[in-house]
Amino acid sequence: MSLISLLSRSNSRLLLVFLHKSPISVNLLETKVVLNSLQYSKTTSGMKSVYVTRPDVASIGIDLLKKECDVSSWSQAVPVPRDELLRQVVGKDAIYCALTDKIDSEIIERAGPQLKCIATISVGYEHIDVAECKKRGIRVGYTPDVLTDATAELTVALLLATSRRLFEANKEVYNGGWKSWAPDWMCGQGLKGARVGLFGFGRIGQEIAARLVPFKPSKLTYTARTERTTEAVKLNAERVSFDEMLCESDFIVACCALTPETKEIFNTDAFKKMKSNAIFINSARGGVVDQTALCAALKDKRILGAGLDVTTPEPLPLDDPLLKLDNVVILPHIGSADVNTRIEMSRITALNILAGLKGEKMVAEVSI
Ligand code: DGY
Repeated sequence: MSLISLLSRSNSRLLLVFLHKSPISVNLLETKVVLNSLQYSKTTSGMKSVYVTRPDVASIGIDLLKKECDVSSWSQAVPVPRDELLRQVVGKDAIYCALTDKIDSEIIERAGPQLKCIATISVGYEHIDVAECKKRGIRVGYTPDVLTDATAELTVALLLATSRRLFEANKEVYNGGWKSWAPDWMCGQGLKGARVGLFGFGRIGQEIAARLVPFKPSKLTYTARTERTTEAVKLNAERVSFDEMLCESDFIVACCALTPETKEIFNTDAFKKMKSNAIFINSARGGVVDQTALCAALKDKRILGAGLDVTTPEPLPLDDPLLKLDNVVILPHIGSADVNTRIEMSRITALNILAGLKGEKMVAEVSI
């Protein structure tokens, strides 16, 4: 019997042991190709196999998976290296991933035809090639809703920290810059009477708006592909064009998904249209901004300031020009970083996988 037919009839793990111990000389390249192309929908335990790309997700999710599946995971609390991910997904039925993992056609192809579902512990899923998943009938789970409040809360905190210069002022306390109270020192821009534009008016955009209302802005506006009449009426928000938002807002908050349409939509042209007192906040994705253009606008004081929870790349290199500016506040993508939210995100990701493997309804499935 040829090696190939032997491999294709047998259990992969036993064969690997056999190949390892056997004195028979095998063509290693051939063996590797054969092993990579063999797909097993069941582990030796008979359970479905799930690869988790991080060991540091809340254990509730992993415990749920372990009850029904054979679970393996990357061992370090940093993103799994690409070559390791390529190795580990082979033969897996499901992948539990994070936004730091690029799940493209190469990974999907390498996993094999038994791959049934991919679930990400995030609301954003631009790191997953959903077109490829659709082609192969792979279901994709994500975690909307559960992180809406945490992200909206963080966005408002970032907006206030930027507009009222909290980090700049705090530094002065420690570096001796605080000499005395002074009437014109550390003055920022308040929200009362300001015009606030929300670029994106989905779940998170609406919750940001709701949290801003008590600060008494003069007007809330939003851009969205479709009119959100019911939601807008509740918040007294008006739908405007992107240009109108750029030209008239004192605060502009990006809280949209990253799509081909929104990619680098905040570019030189957009920053030129903004008011000189405009404050730009981004808790969406770094990719919606042309960062070189933003840096120039901040440096030339064409806009007043920016607050960014997301950048390109992440992490931002320590020599990035943005880090040299005083009128920008940068956070390390912590929008959903609230303990209970992250626990719930882990649980939902696991439930999505279990449902995906059983062909049942996921808690939240990307419609592709
Ligand atoms: C997401 O879920 O997409 C956020 O950016 C991180 O939680």
